This record gives sequence, structure tokens and C-alpha cells, in this order.
Amino acid sequence: MTLEEKVGKTLAELGVTDAQGVESLFAEVRAAMEAERQPLVSQGVPEGDREKTCKALRDRWLARKGGLISLVDENWLKRSPKELKPVVGRHFNELRQFSSRMELERLLKDVPAQQRRAVEDDAGQHWQDAVPIDLRPDLTLPGYRRPLGSIHPVTRVMREIEDIFLGLGFSIETGPEVETVSYNFDKLNIPETHPARDDWDTLYVDEQTVLRTHTSPVQIRAMEKRGAPLYIIMPGKCYRHDNPDSTHSPMFHQIEGLAVDTDITFADLKGTLDFFAKKFFGEKVRTRFSPSFFPFTEPSGEVSISCVFCDAKGCRVCKESGWIEVMGCGMVHPEVLHHGGIDPEKYSGWAFGLGIDRYAMLKYDINDIQLFFQSDVRFLEQF
Ligand code: PHE
Repeated sequence: MTLEEKVGKTLAELGVTDAQGVESLFAEVRAAMEAERQPLVSQGVPEGDREKTCKALRDRWLARKGGLISLVDENWLKRSPKELKPVVGRHFNELRQFSSRMELERLLKDVPAQQRRAVEDDAGQHWQDAVPIDLRPDLTLPGYRRPLGSIHPVTRVMREIEDIFLGLGFSIETGPEVETVSYNFDKLNIPETHPARDDWDTLYVDEQTVLRTHTSPVQIRAMEKRGAPLYIIMPGKCYRHDNPDSTHSPMFHQIEGLAVDTDITFADLKGTLDFFAKKFFGEKVRTRFSPSFFPFTEPSGEVSISCVFCDAKGCRVCKESGWIEVMGCGMVHPEVLHHGGIDPEKYSGWAFGLGIDRYAMLKYDINDIQLFFQSDVRFLEQF
């Protein structure tokens, strides 16, 4: 029985009564479809006949009236016995999807036009002659361009800051982002009852564990591990219970600095941080130190730089003040040295902490910290 004859009969007339029978029947249809399409695709069709041949094939299978698929619908699906209907329906849907390769556009795309042989009287077969021209690779086409990534602006600024301090003889230390309350607070002289603990909007993992609110706990870890003298910077992620807005993010980046040695004074702190500010923001920048409070430094200070946007004349960035606050700092509290296992009678030190994201915002004049963390390529590809 030919395929045409088969699709003209009902399943009952074909003696198909179970799921297995249905399955092999549909498999037969699919195989027939491929058997008609494949030779055209692999061998091509003479150029002038191409459209006509493809259209004829399409009509034979997909014509609304009298096409093989529509006959399958009429005679097998619509007239199938009730209990077989779900199975037939499923196979019919699959067949319909499968038969999309018989759409005219698709056929025209897949079926190449046969070119006349380039060298007709050549006895030996050149491969160029055997392969239809449409199937030969076009070596003149440009290659695929894969977009290159680049360094994230926060990482870029972090490395720049690191480089400045590496040049001064500091080395890099890191510590865990999931930290104990003891390192994040107690050993930094922030006891549980002290109101200063409220300054850090802490994310607690459990009673004794937090996502570190600053990089300062690495000070203690490094002192314990390396002892004095110590010249280190400590970059990394920090976390606070902050609502995201243009200047706050629950995850942000800090760099901590620490110098511990004999005879370290506030003059060392000022000199180093002034040098750093000029290296990072430009030689024209002036620094201003003002008193502040941190439980782990005494005395404590804040460093501001003269506004790099208006040269300290007053603008929107410096809020008309001429100054931009860029870090917290101070002389390491003797208690903190002590907690790190360093004798405060013999050694003294200074420390600072700064927000890398904010430096990147200042450096690239970015007014929304959220842009750093949205992974928007249109933003990132500018760096
Ligand atoms: N840890 C402080 C903060 O996150 C910054 C700081 C570090 C201040 C070191 C002084 C010394 O705000």
C-alpha cells in the first residue's frame, strides 16, 4: 500500500488498534517525509527548477486540502477510536512539528541549487565540482566576533589602590567575609553593650557569626598570624543591612590599611595618606584631617580631599563644601594591638579604611553605586 493509500484510510481500516501500532505508523510517515526531502538537500536541485520542486514537495505534504498531513489529521486523528485519541493526538502534534521542515522558506534555505559543473569535460572529479557551490565554505566571510570582557571598574580601582601601597612596601592580606562576632566587634574594642555597635548595620548569620561589616577584623587576624612589624592592606567585600540606593549597597568593597612598627606616629599616618591621595586623585589634591571616632583607633580621624570636580570651589559632588570625605583612619588603639597579640608598650600603629566603590564613583564620575552590581553590559563595556 502506498503512503497516499494509507493516509486515505482510517486506523480501523488499517488494522491499527493499539498504541504501538500508532507509533510505528507515524514513524513510517516521518521516514517517508525525510526520504523525500533528504536527497534534495544533499544533492541539490537544478537551479531553474529549484523553486518549483520545493513548492511541489511542500504542497504534497502541507497543502491544507489534500496534503498528506491534513489527510493524517482527517482520517487518522479525527476518526480514531476514542481510546486511541490521546496517543494519536500526541503523535500527530509531533508530526506537525517535524513537518515544519517542509515549509517553503525552510526548503528554499536547505535545498541548494545545483550549479553546472565548473569544468565539465574534466575526467577526474574535483571536489569543487562534486559539492554544490552553496554548500562550500565561503572563506572570504569574516569570522565570528566574540565580545571580549574587561576588568570591572571596582576591581580596576581596587588594583590601582593596591598598586600604590605595594609600591610603598605594603603587602596584601585577606580574611573571611563570614566572620565571627568576636573578630568583627569584640577584638576591635566594640563590646556588645557599646552603642558604637549600632553604627554597623550588621547582617547576622547566627548569634556568633556575621557577614563582616568592615575589613577591620582582618587587622586582628593578620596581627595574630604575622606579628609586628606589619605593613599591610586588606581589600575585600563587606556587608551591611542597608537599603540599596544611589550611595548604599548591602554589599560593598573596602580596603583597610595597617602599619605597625616601633615608633609609628600620627605623622606617618598623615604623610602616607596624603601621598596616597595625591597618587590616586592627582598631585593637585590637598588633604584635610578632621577628628572623628572609631572604637579601634585613638585618636581617630576622617580624611577629606579637596574636591576634584570643582577644585574646592563648591559643586554638586562636594555639596558646595569644597571637600569630599574619603576615609576613616586613626592610631591603632593599644587594646586592639593587645588583642592581636602585639605588645602596645613596644609597638604602635596606624590604620585606615576606605570604600572602594566610592573611589570608583569619584574617579569615573558615576552617580549611582547600583550600576556596579547590575551587570549591565552597556555600563560595563565603557571601562
Ligand atoms: N572600619 C571602619 C569603617 O568601616 C573604617 C576604619 C578603618 C576607620 C580603620 C579607622 C581605621 O567605617
